Amino acid sequence: MAYIVGQGCIGCKHTTCVEVCPVDAFREGDNFLVIDPEECIDCDLCVDECPEDAIFAEDDVPADQIQFIEINARLAEIWPEIDAPKQPLLDGSTEIVE
Ligand code: SF4
Ligand code: F3S
Repeated sequence: MAYIVGQGCIGCKHTTCVEVCPVDAFREGDNFLVIDPEECIDCDLCVDECPEDAIFAEDDVPADQIQFIEINARLAEIWPEIDAPKQPLLDGSTEIVE
């Protein structure tokens, strides 16, 4: 299994989640983050850090966000690691920027 960043992160990118990840599994895109499923150890620490409630265990991803399982896996292979918080984006965007 792995944890998944979903729709709530798009346009927000608070980045408070990255600080707690013990294996630096987060990857950064222009307007949201993803989690590398090859790195995530299912520790559950990041879930409570996200003010948007955007992070789910893979088994608990809402049906209308199920595509984010594939999106996280695919983009984690090409996006760079982020291991320290930064200024939130909060640009109001709602569409994925790849
Ligand atoms: Fe990192 Fe744990 Fe969140 Fe996985 S569940 S991304 S290991 S903080
Ligand atoms: Fe995104 Fe939430 Fe992390 S908005 S950057 S998943 S704290």
